[in-house]
Amino acid sequence: MKSASILSLRYSITTALTQTRSPTLELLTQIDESLFCLQIHPEFSPIGWHFGHIAFTEAYWLEQLAGISLNFPDADQRLFAADGLPKQERQNLPAVATIKEYLKTIRSQTLDYLATAPIAQQERLWRWLIQHETQHCETISFLRQLYQQRYLDIASFNTYQSISSENMVAIAINATEMLKVEGGKFTIGSDAVDALDNERPAHQIYLNTYWIDRHPVTCRQYAQFTAAGGYQRREYWSAAGWQWLQQYPVNQPLYWSNDADWLDHPVYGVSYYEAEAYSNFVQKRLPTEAEWEKAALGASLNCNHGHLIGHTTPVDTYAETSHSGCQDMLGNVWEWTASWFDGYPRFSPYPYPGYSQVYFDGQHRVLRGGSWATSSVGIRASFRNWYHPQVRQIFAGFRCAKD
Ligand code: AVJ
Ligand code: FE
Repeated sequence: MKSASILSLRYSITTALTQTRSPTLELLTQIDESLFCLQIHPEFSPIGWHFGHIAFTEAYWLEQLAGISLNFPDADQRLFAADGLPKQERQNLPAVATIKEYLKTIRSQTLDYLATAPIAQQERLWRWLIQHETQHCETISFLRQLYQQRYLDIASFNTYQSISSENMVAIAINATEMLKVEGGKFTIGSDAVDALDNERPAHQIYLNTYWIDRHPVTCRQYAQFTAAGGYQRREYWSAAGWQWLQQYPVNQPLYWSNDADWLDHPVYGVSYYEAEAYSNFVQKRLPTEAEWEKAALGASLNCNHGHLIGHTTPVDTYAETSHSGCQDMLGNVWEWTASWFDGYPRFSPYPYPGYSQVYFDGQHRVLRGGSWATSSVGIRASFRNWYHPQVRQIFAGFRCAKD
């Protein structure tokens, strides 16, 4: 690589690290100390843990892969390692100020090293570190929303009221437009330097012709399912979905408002099972992740992401479409797909099997597209996210497809 391009690469990585860090620190100042150590949901570590884990991961992977040595305190390494302690044993955290100090100390050592590091050979590592931090920031964002939901807004938590008949009329005239995507060969995945292990390698597959919703399913549309007794009627649910519903008897999405202004926002705070049940209700299905990715080609970063807005937006807010004519493929809400998370052919783990590979277990469904809280570095058609199908605490909605 020429020295001018080395210089611009070094600049680009430095800028990305710094731009990633400011929202992290901003989030840290917004978290109430009393909630810092609390594990609010068994699926997730306490909110404060994520901050320490960001600093630890930066130190650890620079040590492992760049062969340098950084000063992350020995005593807290096991606490903040991805494979250290079970999630429920991560509540005994250092003080907020101490964790802030870890972030600061490690980062300043990182930037010192970066000034002369052989970055052309390390670009993948740096891009991974940057994305890793932003992913944990999104987790922090939805944990924070969860705390607000639980503690500040407990009165409206899970209290479904049926929507007014006036709004029902609007529903009737708002049938979802679907777009036809012609069958053919399609290259799924990415070999770009910022592509994560699970996106690689890009490879060609064949897809039959299918139809896909122009927009994510809106609250207006989802309310029809709820009003039709969707949560009570067995016939819409898969066996696993019905079993989940009996165990967690919910009757509306986690993030739901009866405010009329909310009706054209995408429904979100739904589990995979709810997305699947709604799809059955409208006699459609969820798209596979390949169908989703093909329909997203050509979608741009001009979308609701990175806390630009701070919440969801009506699904037709961004007029620009993907090549297939879909809106809101990127940003706004993550979208559940029908696919189990698995490695592409010739998958190779990076930087460690615990990043993606251990989740190739037939128990995680793929989500695509990013949400209003996803950083620009994670917004692309090929990006794959994954969660257990019962998780509804993430910023996830969905759109439907059919043959
Ligand atoms: C991609 C969001 C599912 O946070 O569990 C972060 C990413 N892996 N550190 C997660 C991840 C290790 C992962 N998700
Ligand atoms: Fe992590």
